[in-house]
Amino acid sequence: MAKIGVLISGSGTNLQSLIDDGLPIVIVLSDQPAVAGLDRAKKAGIPTVEVLRQDFKADKFDRLAFTHAVIDALKPYDLDLVVMAGFMTILSPPMFEAYQNRVINIHPSLLPKFPGAHGVRDALAAGEKVTGSTVHIATATVDDPTTILGQSRVEILEGDTEDTLTERVKAAEHELYPRVLKEYLATLNP
Ligand code: GRF
Repeated sequence: MAKIGVLISGSGTNLQSLIDDGLPIVIVLSDQPAVAGLDRAKKAGIPTVEVLRQDFKADKFDRLAFTHAVIDALKPYDLDLVVMAGFMTILSPPMFEAYQNRVINIHPSLLPKFPGAHGVRDALAAGEKVTGSTVHIATATVDDPTTILGQSRVEILEGDTEDTLTERVKAAEHELYPRVLKEYLATLNP
């Protein structure tokens, strides 16, 4: 059986879609304390671990030390796949060396358009007619569009706000992410 670790920072609605679909999640890691996503994991009986950004901020954020702490926390679980689901910390290169082609991310835009922290807002501001979500292999380059595993398109409607559009993009993600992850897992463990 494949083993998946999921990285979260917040509400964890994407995590919930993976849980509901029965993906083999063995650990959920959060970089923020007491977020709703941790409760979702606990309710599903999945172990959780917190590697908190706030613990790596003595002077300025020590990204490399944080990355190594994430790698160390995941190591005992012997993961086949690391799945970022709303994880808001950029990880340093050692993470992608430890899990080559096995860190997956979901980003709320049609990459390569609108990378960065505000994919929905930026598509709206640019006057796009269509946006969506992208599942891709994550690398040290943020929102790297080199290897796209799947995309969902979402129409932008007249009168959409960032909130209404985010809601529809997320609904599309909850169908897209489990489906694409299962397809990708099948290529790793044929
Ligand atoms: C999603 O829109 C995802 O694309 C982005 O962060 C959001 C996470 O939402 N990377 P949630 O925590 O899964 O509800």
